[in-house]
Amino acid sequence: MEQLIQQIKKEFQHRFGDSYKLIKSPGRVNLIGEHTDYNDGFVLPAAIDKGIVLAINPNNTNTCRFYAVDKKESFETEISGNLKKSDQGWPNYLLGVVDQLRKHGFEVDGFDCVFGGNVPIGAGMSSSAALECGVLFGLAELNGWDIPPVEMAKIAQKAENEFVGVQCGIMDQFASLNGKEGYALKLDCRSLDYEYFPFNRDDIQIVLCDTQVRRELASSEYNMRREQCEQGVEILQQWNPEIESLRDVELTLLFQHEQDMDPTIFKRCKYVVEENKRVIQACNDLHQGAMDSFGQRMYQSHAGLRHEYEVSCEELDVLVNIARNLEGVFGARMMGGGFGGCTINVVQEDHVDSFTNQIKEKYEKQMDKEIKVYRTKVSSGTHLISS
Ligand code: GLA
Repeated sequence: MEQLIQQIKKEFQHRFGDSYKLIKSPGRVNLIGEHTDYNDGFVLPAAIDKGIVLAINPNNTNTCRFYAVDKKESFETEISGNLKKSDQGWPNYLLGVVDQLRKHGFEVDGFDCVFGGNVPIGAGMSSSAALECGVLFGLAELNGWDIPPVEMAKIAQKAENEFVGVQCGIMDQFASLNGKEGYALKLDCRSLDYEYFPFNRDDIQIVLCDTQVRRELASSEYNMRREQCEQGVEILQQWNPEIESLRDVELTLLFQHEQDMDPTIFKRCKYVVEENKRVIQACNDLHQGAMDSFGQRMYQSHAGLRHEYEVSCEELDVLVNIARNLEGVFGARMMGGGFGGCTINVVQEDHVDSFTNQIKEKYEKQMDKEIKVYRTKVSSGTHLISS
């Protein structure tokens, strides 16, 4: 991280001068609670020690100038009238935030921003949310805007929904902004009430295995899953008009109406209703230090994502199956939107080396390709490093 910070500072000084604020904005892991956030449900993410570093400063013009260190690409636009989406892709995460801030009545003037990260892009560790939250936090710092963290998360999520065009839930942005070192964050995505659960045991580590599979399909499939959940809710509302989302649905009601819905819609709904329950139970496990039971719920979550929600892929399934048979592993599952990206593995500290070696070796043998393995620490949310 120190190296990245120095790199960002140097690049900003070279391009835009010596005055700037420096911000770190983390990626996130999600221990359990996948595809529940946009169903008003529960999630259990944590901010991690990998993320994005940004340097940001006003430039007293009407122009935004951005530089992405990892891509070695720059972008420039005037902030007047309606902002236009960029074909370059990445500028949209920054522009989306500017667009949302303006829609919320904040006057955004021209600014310069240089950023780079050590979160792999598209790996399901929320590099995009980290960037959105970093820019938002930075602009609030520059302008002295006092935006409560929960409100910030909503603005960053809307930036992605409305400008980037992915109908994501609020988990990633919320975790990136509100994470706390040593704690996982249980979030009620309906009320946005949250509670921290200690996740700082020295004897346990979170290890991510990156398939390096990135599917273009992911965002259209994601939006389709959202629609399918909404269709399920519409059907169930005929019997219980008080149901607003899958969060309100009991399994018994769902089974009573299995014949009333398309089998695919039924499967999607069943997974979400069960996953919501698992998050609550997994939090109790954490509270009691019952890591074996916690790990079993991770495997159940994966099975649901694979067979019922159908957002996994062969690479992820192979990794979870290998992990299941390795010593010192409490649990493993695919993480994030799906169709590629990472698995999250909760592993006993003294087995992490052998886990890493064996999973790499066995995967390579079976799939004839490589994975990347990252060890992560549960870390603090978006913050100022220096001004
Ligand atoms: C992506 C979205 C989140 C969430 C997860 C699935 O990461 O950005 O809002 O829906 O997928 O749990």
